[in-house]
Parts: sequence; structure tokens; C-alpha cells
Amino acid sequence: MREIYPKLEYRGGELHFEDVSLRKIAESIGTPVYVYSRGALEYWFREFDTAFSEVPHTTCFAVKSNSNVHVLKALKEMEAGADTVSMGEIFRALTAGIDPKKIVFAGVGKREDELLFALEKGILMVNVESEGELRTLEKVAEKLRKRAPFAIRVNPDVNPKTHPYISTGLKEAKFGITFEKALELYRYAKESRWLKPLGIHFHIGSQITDTAVFGEAARKVARFVRELHSIGVEIEFFDAGGGLGINYRPDEKVIPSKRLADEVVPVVRELGCHLILEPGRRISGNAGVLITKVLYVKKRENKTFYIVDAGMNDIARPALYGAYHHIVPLTEREGKREVADVVGPICETGDVIAKERELPSLKEGDYIAVLSAGAYGFTMASNYNSRPRPAEVMVEGKDFRVIRQRETLSDLMAREF
Ligand code: LLP
Repeated sequence: MREIYPKLEYRGGELHFEDVSLRKIAESIGTPVYVYSRGALEYWFREFDTAFSEVPHTTCFAVKSNSNVHVLKALKEMEAGADTVSMGEIFRALTAGIDPKKIVFAGVGKREDELLFALEKGILMVNVESEGELRTLEKVAEKLRKRAPFAIRVNPDVNPKTHPYISTGLKEAKFGITFEKALELYRYAKESRWLKPLGIHFHIGSQITDTAVFGEAARKVARFVRELHSIGVEIEFFDAGGGLGINYRPDEKVIPSKRLADEVVPVVRELGCHLILEPGRRISGNAGVLITKVLYVKKRENKTFYIVDAGMNDIARPALYGAYHHIVPLTEREGKREVADVVGPICETGDVIAKERELPSLKEGDYIAVLSAGAYGFTMASNYNSRPRPAEVMVEGKDFRVIRQRETLSDLMAREF
């Protein structure tokens, strides 16, 4: 037995999620296929959630990282809430049975119908990202004759030291509101019949590995909360967002969630607020893999290409961010290793899953697993090149089941007639 990630290991030379051989899934369901492990989801959820047990808190899973309703149901059973960014995500969370009072709703450009939906469903709070949005929320609340609970997403202007595309807490980013403006808006809301200031929100970026930046942001926001308290605006919920990084390389150290908790918990305890956290990747990332098959091996001078049946439409992160995803064969092999590019079938040069990667020599028909694909994998998949999106499978103990069927050719055109 050789563990790669919790619940993912080689047993007798075959890669398993819990007690299920991934080859068995590939052979019966076909490829490409996303596979998640309920046990791994639970492992990562608990690892995260218990780190905050010293303070009242709710772990709201970031639905955008993995929105499959069965994944959400599993997390709901672990008592997770949901961090959502669209009406669609709220709908998914509610369908999974997540208590509306554990749902927060963020996003820079919420439409009126989305705000209406959120208020009607009685979610915990709307995380407001602009002055215009606050006015729209007020209007919608008046229409419903219902006070709208909200938080303002402040932009604490700290550098999360991560990929520029997933940094959100710097003042030049489109996200959030400055403290100065936020103060004005809370003052306004306090007097409004239809607005109910309930919380404060910030999220500074994603795949953050330097946990000190969370503390820096939390302390800045806490100072502001004290200012709000002093003018009579009661802030009950302190929403510290998501963003804790994972190890995309199995041999890299995992950053314990406790380290994030050590930064945030003392700040919240002093304020006496209820803490909300919005981890996505941290919970789903290493609880999922994408299995793909080598279609062809192409050799050119001293270059080897493994052409696989998953493309950038199925897994966008490498093409979009130059992201690293570790790759392992489903059947462990010793011996010769080769440097190769793992590429998809899409008509774009950027359709590369791994560049110049040292891998065991592969041949046509071999299966490989693209690791850390449980977050921002399927949710970012598209039908580009008219490719039906992959199936999704959930493993639990010695069982597995399809939790989303592979799309069919007719699905591709379903809305065109
Ligand atoms: N809360 C808010 C307000 C967010 O915007 C995000 C992610 C999260 C929570 C969850 O962040 P996490 O814990 O998963 O890092 N597609 C990119 C990631 C984009 C993240 C956007 N916001 C990727 O594949 O790396």
C-alpha cells in the first residue's frame, strides 16, 4: 500500500479511492471521468472544521469549486453550509438540503432576480460588493416587505501572494468595497427600514499558502468592525472567506488548517462574532481525480506526446492558469521513465495538461489519473469543440455510483431546437 493522498492509494499496484479500484471505474463508466471520494471529502472537511471548534462557526463550502448536488448532499450531512455566487448555486445548495440559514451569497454582479430569489428563500446573508448593489437589495427587500440581511464585502488591501488571476483582496481588484465607503453604506443601512446589517465579509484570494496574510486581513477587518460597533452597527457574523491552499504535489507538505485558525480565531473571539468560513478547494480539491485514457503516443525527434481523451474543455486549469496537476498511472509501474507532454484532443496549442513531465512510459490504452481535480475541475468544464462533458462518480467505501451521467450527443443540441 502506498498512500498518495488521504483515501487515495495504490493497493496491489492499482490506484484505489477508498476500497474501489479506479481502473474498475474507468472500465465500467468510460473516460474521461471525474471520481470523488466521500471519505476524502469527509477527511478534508473535518480537518478544516475542527480547527475552528473553539469558536462558534459555520463552514460554508464554496459551491463554485464543486457543485455536484451529491457532493453538496454529502457535505450537508457533515453539517456544512454553502457559499454561493449565483441563483444557480443557491438552488443547488437548497436542493441538497442545506439549511438556508447556512447559505451566504457573494458575487460582484448580482442581478435583481437573483437577489429576489435569495431573499425569498431566506438565506443567511447577501455579501454586497457595491453601493449600487446595496440599493438594488433595498429595493427588492421593500418589494418583498422583508428586511434584507447583508454583509459588505470589504477589500482589506492585502497581498495574498498567489496567482494574479485568483488574487482578489488588493485594492486594484474589482472585488469588495473600501473601508471608507463601507462605513458610509453601513451608516445608511442602519437607518433603512429594509436593510439589516448582519455581517462583514472579505475574501482575499485562492490557493493561499502563506497563512500570515489571513491574520493581516482579519485584524484589519476587525479594527473596522470595532468602528462599526462604536457607531451602533451590530456585526454578528465575521465571514473570513476561503482561499486556503492545498498541495498539488503529493510529496509537498499540507498546510494544516489549524494554522489558518491560529490567525483568525483569536481575532474573532475578541470580537465575539460568529465566524463563517468559505473553503472550496481545501475540501474538494484532493477529494477528486480525473481519469483519462492515453489514445495515442506520438513521438517526434526527441519529444513524446501522450494524447489523452480529456481536453481543456474537461479540465481547464492547466490551460487557463498554467496550473500544475500531478499525474499518476492507474497501474503502478516500475522502470523506465520518460519526459513527455500530456495533451488533449482540442484544436488549440494551449490544450496541454502537463508539459515536459517525467512520467513512467505509457502506451496506448493506459489510464492515468490527473490528481487534485475535485475543485474547479468539472465546474469549469465546457462543451468546447462540441465535446459532451464527462461523467462524475462518487466512491464510498467499497461502492461507487454515477452522480452525473456523461453528457450525450443530443444533450449538446438540446437547447437548439
Ligand atoms: N469565497 C469567495 C468569495 C470566493 O470568491 C472564492 C473563490 C471562495 C470563497 C473559495 O475559494 P477557495 O477556498 O476554493 O480557494 N478557478 C480558480 C479559483 C477561483 C476562485 C474564485 N473564488 C482555480 O481553479 O484556481
